[in-house]
Formats: sequence, structure tokens, C-alpha cells
Amino acid sequence: MSRLIIEESPPLAGRVRVGGSKNAALPIMAAALMARGKCVIHDVPALSDIFVMQNIIESYGGATEYDCKSERMIIDASELGRHTADYELISKIRASFLILGPLLSRLGEVKTAMPGGCAIGGRPVDLHLKGMAALGAQIGLNHGYIEASAAKLRGAEVHLDFPSVGATENIIMAATLAKGRTIIGNCALEPEITDLCNFLVSIGADISGAGTDTITVNGVDSLNGGEYRIIPDRIEAGTFLAAACARPGGDVSLENADTAHLRPVIAKLREMGAQIEEKSGPGLLSIKTDDRLKAADVKTLPYPGFPTDMQAQFMALLAVSTGRGVMTETVFENRYMHAAEMSRMGACIKIDSRTAVVDGVRNLAGCPVKATDLRAGAALIIAALGADGVTEIFGVHHLERGYDRIDEKLRQLGARIIKIG
Ligand code: EPZ
Repeated sequence: MSRLIIEESPPLAGRVRVGGSKNAALPIMAAALMARGKCVIHDVPALSDIFVMQNIIESYGGATEYDCKSERMIIDASELGRHTADYELISKIRASFLILGPLLSRLGEVKTAMPGGCAIGGRPVDLHLKGMAALGAQIGLNHGYIEASAAKLRGAEVHLDFPSVGATENIIMAATLAKGRTIIGNCALEPEITDLCNFLVSIGADISGAGTDTITVNGVDSLNGGEYRIIPDRIEAGTFLAAACARPGGDVSLENADTAHLRPVIAKLREMGAQIEEKSGPGLLSIKTDDRLKAADVKTLPYPGFPTDMQAQFMALLAVSTGRGVMTETVFENRYMHAAEMSRMGACIKIDSRTAVVDGVRNLAGCPVKATDLRAGAALIIAALGADGVTEIFGVHHLERGYDRIDEKLRQLGARIIKIG
């Protein structure tokens, strides 16, 4: 199993390019299953989750081609052959559930594994299934598989109990080829939803309200192929901004960062004392820190609130800030697994259910730690960058799900980091 070795590093300095958004690329790849033609998608990051989604699309009969160098994905779902994929493949990523809406809409039937939970929570899919049922699908759970069918989905009014990102995406996709109008209320507002809607409209869908909490979809008969570019990954961008603050004296510029998607993260970093400048160049954003950051309170909320996917990274920053910060994780029920690992490095963190009280210390002490999930892994790297001595991070496969060559990119910024194995 590979691991990362991070030695005591100077404050990060230099420029790094942000890649395309994993959480926009995954639903857009699933949506391409509805197109009767070739979809050419640019800025698709080379991540293990993307490759799994590629295999899932192929197991349903779609043809795919990915070029790592140009980060271009081609998906041709003109001919789909099967209505199911094997459990071992489907269960690798939760985002596999996003093929439900597209295949139900396109084929009228689909069999897919009920996703299990993961390190950060139970991850139920009840809101997805309620949406499909509202559009007229018959849904059954059969030996761990969801079997859904509908001669023809019919437009309906759907109101989400919670602004679930995945449920919003699945219902939009199911409604795209349904008969009639669907109005979805209490939609998630994440930028990745808007990107999905923009992609669908670019291949012939009739969708309005993207970016608001009410999205209207008028069903169309079919979708064509097309060409599209994925938005920048706001969480990768936020992770590099946080890494730049791991030690006083950081001076990092990001290329291809969409600052409009980073408002809550930029605001919090400024509150903690970082100097952030939105440069004139396209997607250019720079961050500087002269002193240790000041602690602040952080509460995760659905967009445009502070993103839960940046919570772990900010816990690492609070761990080396001056003063006490209180974190509240309102989105997932078990997303503090990284706290125990940071405590081994000398962090002073007290967890009580969804609240974490963090008292900053001047320096953490490097030691062997284990990544429990994707963002926890990123947080441990940030903690290691602010630590004395050597840190060894196991469980690197979690990181590779959402960060393309993060060790290389951080080395570019002066971090003493290497990947072994
Ligand atoms: C997406 O997951 C992201 N993944 C997650 O990013 C992100 O943390 C999350 O949205 C919240 O922003 C992708 O886009 C691939 P949700 P998703 O449905 O869609 C509950 C990362 O690190 N819920 O908005 O699964 C659920 O249990 C990943 O890149 C239900 O109760 O998130 C959770 O508590 C991690 N019933 C909350 O809603 C449902 O049917 C938010 O889940 C669906 C969700």
C-alpha cells in the first residue's frame, strides 16, 4: 500500500493549477448515458473515482475513452446494452448511484446496488428514491439491489426534505427525458448542480432555475452528443489555500480557481488573518500569511454555507492557529475521524457529537497517521506541513479518489513530500 512521507517543510510558495471538479465530472459522466451521441468532456481530472465511473458506464454498454494528458473524456452512449452492473464495481463509489436517474429516464428500467455507508456516515438514498417514485417509477429493493422501472417517467412536483446534492442531481436527470414538466423544490445550490444543468442544456435538455432552490425541467424526447468543459474543483482549490496557511509566511497563487465558488472559504481564511487577493488574470487567486492564523469558529452548511468538504482541512489549520476555534459539522453525522489522527500529532481537539473544540498549538509533531477518507487525508497533509519532524500518511488510496498528483503539486510549492509505493 502506498504512503506519503512529509518532512518538515518551509512555508509553501509558488503557483499551482487547479484541476476540473470531481463532483461536477461524476454526475456529468452519468448524464452522458442519456445522450444518443458522443459527448466530449474537457478538464475531467485523472482520479480513481473517475476511472470507476468510466467502468460503470461501460458495464451498462456505453463506450468511453479517456486521455490523461489532455484530461479529455469521450462517452458514447448511442447504444446501451444492459440494465445492471455487478455489485463489486458499483459499490466502489457512492456516486455510482447517479446512474439511476439517467438510465431510468433513458431505458425505463435499471438495476443498481443500494450504496452502503462510508467513513463519514450512513449516506442514505431515501431522497433519491422518493424523487424517482414521484416521477412514477416502481422501486424495489431485491437482495441488496435497487430495481427501478417505469414505462415512461412523468413530470411531477418534487420537494426535497433536505437539499441533498446527489438527490437533486438524480431527479434533474430523471426528469430530463420524462413526459411533461417537473418542478424540484428545496434543491441543493452547489455549483456542481449548475454545471450539470448547463451540460444537459448544452446537449438538448430544457432546464431553468439552475443555481436557485427551485429547478424546472421540461422533458424532451432525446438528447444529442456535444462538447463541454467542467468547472474548476473548488475543494481542490480550497485545499491548496489551506495548505498555504499551514505555516506562517506562505505565498501561493492558484490558476484556474473560480473565486465565485470559494466565497465561504475565502471569507473564513480572511477572518483568520490570511491575505487573499483576486488577481485580474483568469481564475488567478493569491494567498499570503505573515503570522500564525487566528482561530475562528466554523460551521458547515449546504452551499453557499461553509462546505463540509473543507471541514477537515480547516480543523488542521485550527490545530496550529492561536486561540480556540469551535467546529460544527451539520451535514454528515460522522465526519471527525481525522481528529484522532491529528491528536496523535499533538493537536488539542475535544469532540462532542457534531461539535469539535480545537485549541491551537504552536507546532504539531510529525508521526505515522492514517487517512480514513478523502478529505481527512488532505487534512493530514496540511497538519504535516505545519508539523516539526517527519509525518508518514497511510491510506493514500483515499486521497487518489479526489486529488490528482497532490504530492507533485505540493512539491512544486516547496513541500518536502514524496509518495512511496
Ligand atoms: C455530495 O455527496 C458530494 N459528493 C460530497 O463530496 C459532499 O460532501 C456532499 O455532496 C455534500 O456537499 C459528490 O458530489 C460525488 P448529500 P452526496 O446527498 O450527494 C443526507 C467529497 O469529499 N442524505 O448532499 O452524497 C446524507 O446522509 C464528497 O468529495 C439523506 O439523508 O451528499 C448527508 O447527511 C464527500 N438522504 C446529507 O444528506 C438522501 O437521500 C448530505 O448528503 C441523500 C442524502
